[in-house]
This record gives sequence, C-alpha cells and structure tokens, in this order.
Amino acid sequence: MTETYGHLMETVTLAVARARDPTAAMQQAVAALKAGVPHYTWVGIYLMDGDELVLGPFVGKPSPHTRIELNRGICGAAASQKATIIVDDVNSDPRYLACSLETKSEIVVPIMRDGTVLGEIDIDSDTPAAFGAADRTLLEAVANAIATRL
Ligand code: SME
Repeated sequence: MTETYGHLMETVTLAVARARDPTAAMQQAVAALKAGVPHYTWVGIYLMDGDELVLGPFVGKPSPHTRIELNRGICGAAASQKATIIVDDVNSDPRYLACSLETKSEIVVPIMRDGTVLGEIDIDSDTPAAFGAADRTLLEAVANAIATRL
C-alpha cells in the first residue's frame, strides 16, 4: 500500500464517518475516490433492493445499468459470491455489462454487514489491469466504513 493510498483511506473513511447521513457518506466516498486516484474513471455505489442492485451515488458518465439482477454482470457476481472481483480485461469476461466503450478493467467490492450484502462499490478504469492488491485493501476498508452508515 503506497503512502498515497494510506492517506486516501484515512481521508475517505473519516469523511464517511462524519457525513450527516448515509447518502452524504456515499456521495463523499465516491467523490473522494474519483478525485484521489487517476486511474479510477467511473466510481459508483450500488445498493441492494430486494433481489436487485440499484445504482446510487456515482461520479462519471451516466450508466445504462441502473438496476442489475444478481445473476447478471460482474456486479451481480460480486454480490452473489460476497467477494471482491477484479477483472483485468473486461472485454474477455463474458459476465461483463458494458457502460462505456473505453472501459478496460473493473473492480467490484461488496459492502457487507454481518455476512449480508448491503451493496457494493463498483469502479471502472480506462487502463487495462488497473486494479491490484492496494486497490482491494483501500476499497474493502471504504466498504466497511460505508457499511456502518447504512
Ligand atoms: N460493468 C458492470 C455494470 C455496471 S457499469 O460498470 C457502471 C457489470 O458488468 O456488472
């Protein structure tokens, strides 16, 4: 984990903890992540609504995928498996639901409390294989912080 990521983790988790309500907490998290990491092209949060994921706060181009069933997409897979998924090349992953032609790689991190998936952080990058262990560590910490606010 680089110094930059350590600092960003502290900044984002503090902002989430201090936000006045859950929506503000999620908005501040996506804004700070987008601003803090150059290779994060699209940063959003999906929330569970029954059996579907519904798009909440995001920064980036509008996505056509505002509702995703759990058996669809990389987003659905991460929620079903209750595990972070990193895809180095989205175009070679048959699960991938495209938002932007420029997207090359993606990370999806479940937001969980007591083993229940409440939602997830979804980040797209225009850089191939943009996500590694440091991103996973950062985003899982942010997901845990958000989970305490939902
Ligand atoms: N690519 C996602 C869909 C959401 S967009 O990236 C915002 C997926 O395959 O589930």
